[in-house]
Amino acid sequence: MSAPRVARTKAELRALLAAARDHGLTVGLVPTMGSLHDGHLSLLRAARERCDVVVMSLFVNPAQFGEGEDLDSYPSDEVRDLEVAGESGVDIVFAPEVDEVYPAGFATYVAVEGLADVLDGDPARRGATHFRGVTTVVAKLLNLVAPDVAFFGQKDAQQAIVVRRMARDLDFRSEIAVVPTVREPDGLALSSRNSYLTPDARKRASGLWLALDAVRETALGGASVDDAIAAGQRVLAEAGIEPEYLEARHADDLTPAESFNGRPVLVAVAARVGRARLIDNVVVGDPAPTD
Ligand code: PAJ
Repeated sequence: MSAPRVARTKAELRALLAAARDHGLTVGLVPTMGSLHDGHLSLLRAARERCDVVVMSLFVNPAQFGEGEDLDSYPSDEVRDLEVAGESGVDIVFAPEVDEVYPAGFATYVAVEGLADVLDGDPARRGATHFRGVTTVVAKLLNLVAPDVAFFGQKDAQQAIVVRRMARDLDFRSEIAVVPTVREPDGLALSSRNSYLTPDARKRASGLWLALDAVRETALGGASVDDAIAAGQRVLAEAGIEPEYLEARHADDLTPAESFNGRPVLVAVAARVGRARLIDNVVVGDPAPTD
């Protein structure tokens, strides 16, 4: 496949998209922070299958990193990412500098209340500014690209839920599609941050998935939420992982789940394993998400 066109500025991006619009082509958007792996590629494939023109953004968004987080060390290899994007059939890569996205005097943020305050958005964890940073940059990308469909990964389940709510509340016309999590053979969800894992930490990291699987199996056996979570906690302890959270919440509004018998339940986990902060999740009571 041919190399993608690279837009560094909003004006270049709009110019490249104008031709597609003139021809009535459908546009798919895949927002990324680069360091592409097979999880990203599965989003690109989904976009390639559904849309005539595929736009990928490549932007490490400072607004979503908290103090003490890994903004400065976040892995980046643009040359490789552009190559991989080309091989995946991406037509346009939007790879702006920070001040193109956040020019001097930038002062407007988009924040989703409630949904963004629990799990990763808990002020004691990544904090309210994390999702505010995500929704602000995604709102800008949706405005700039105006895609028919924007693709997000189930791996970051809360992010997908928050983005979907924002798009609904603010009347964005793009469909928000969610693509299933891609995993390593031992269950570890692919993540750019897996590159921080030492061989020992990498081995232990599969404990996150094993714990989620234990919660799911226990839940499907008819257990209460407390018992299922306790089963997951035991698996984490065996792997030497102390979670920041392992919680069961309704998958639509993230309120605490009291049982597995009603609405689909999102079981989400976050933990530091070695130097990496990892998150993962499983949905109980729902077929794999498709859109
Ligand atoms: P990033 O971590 O680069 O992820 C880009 C997209 O890939 C997200 O929608 C994420 O959920 C998805 N993804 C990551 N790992 C995946 C996996 N193992 N399986 C399936 N999908 C996976 O998420 C972000 O960037 C940023 O917050 C962003 C949305 C780009 C806003 O800055």
